[in-house]
Amino acid sequence: MKNKIVAGNWKMNNTFSEAEDLLVAIAESLEDMRLETEVIICPPALYLEMATDVAQESNFYVGAQNVSYAEKGAYTGEISAAMLNSVDVDFCIVGHSERRTYFHETDEELVKKIDLLLANEINPIFCCGESLADRQNDNFKLVIEKQIKNTLFHLSAEQFENVTIAYEPIWAIGTGLTATPQQAQEVHAFIRKLIEEKYGTEIAYNTYILYGGSCNAKNALDLFTCEDVDGGLIGGASLSAKDFIEIINAAETCTKND
Ligand code: 13P
Repeated sequence: MKNKIVAGNWKMNNTFSEAEDLLVAIAESLEDMRLETEVIICPPALYLEMATDVAQESNFYVGAQNVSYAEKGAYTGEISAAMLNSVDVDFCIVGHSERRTYFHETDEELVKKIDLLLANEINPIFCCGESLADRQNDNFKLVIEKQIKNTLFHLSAEQFENVTIAYEPIWAIGTGLTATPQQAQEVHAFIRKLIEEKYGTEIAYNTYILYGGSCNAKNALDLFTCEDVDGGLIGGASLSAKDFIEIINAAETCTKND
């Protein structure tokens, strides 16, 4: 039986007091649950320290949404992996399509980010996924294979074991257009096969491959029931404590029925 991971990516949402209320509401709900599922909350950088404080008394992990590709120094506005580590951040999202699109992040930068995160004992949550055009042209597997090979396959097996992957088809993010469980399963199995070819069966089995893209309280159970879907990276629905907890409950149900 493999437990699931449910991660919430708040993106650029919530003021300080809204963030505090949401963290406390989630922590209070989790208090009563004896969880198999690993819960990760990724608030904006400004609230990471508050989140790690709340997490100390609760049972969730904290993730950042971004990290600098540089180690330290004159990079105005950036936050380094060492800084994230110094406030007890456990995970960091890397390669989200919003950052690739709006901030023009390249594979070369992502490699530097991943290496710095691992050097600072932070687990990367690496996002990959195809555009609508790539899906329609039946090009999606090629795109995903390239993203994964270019950015992750320089890692040793020991390093790779700390990486979580999130498959996030761009056409499904924030659109309400969720991938069907069949579409998600097909890509997740494909990603696992790539990992198996490079790192072997055991590491491939142990790697968490999350689905992201309009995953919500209604569709989470169907998605999480797929053999190769190890949980979800949740955007919009992670901004409501009630919806987020329902998604965690869906993950719990899958683990218990496994
Ligand atoms: P939505 O759940 O809002 O579609 O966002 C998914 C996502 O991008 C998570 O990283």
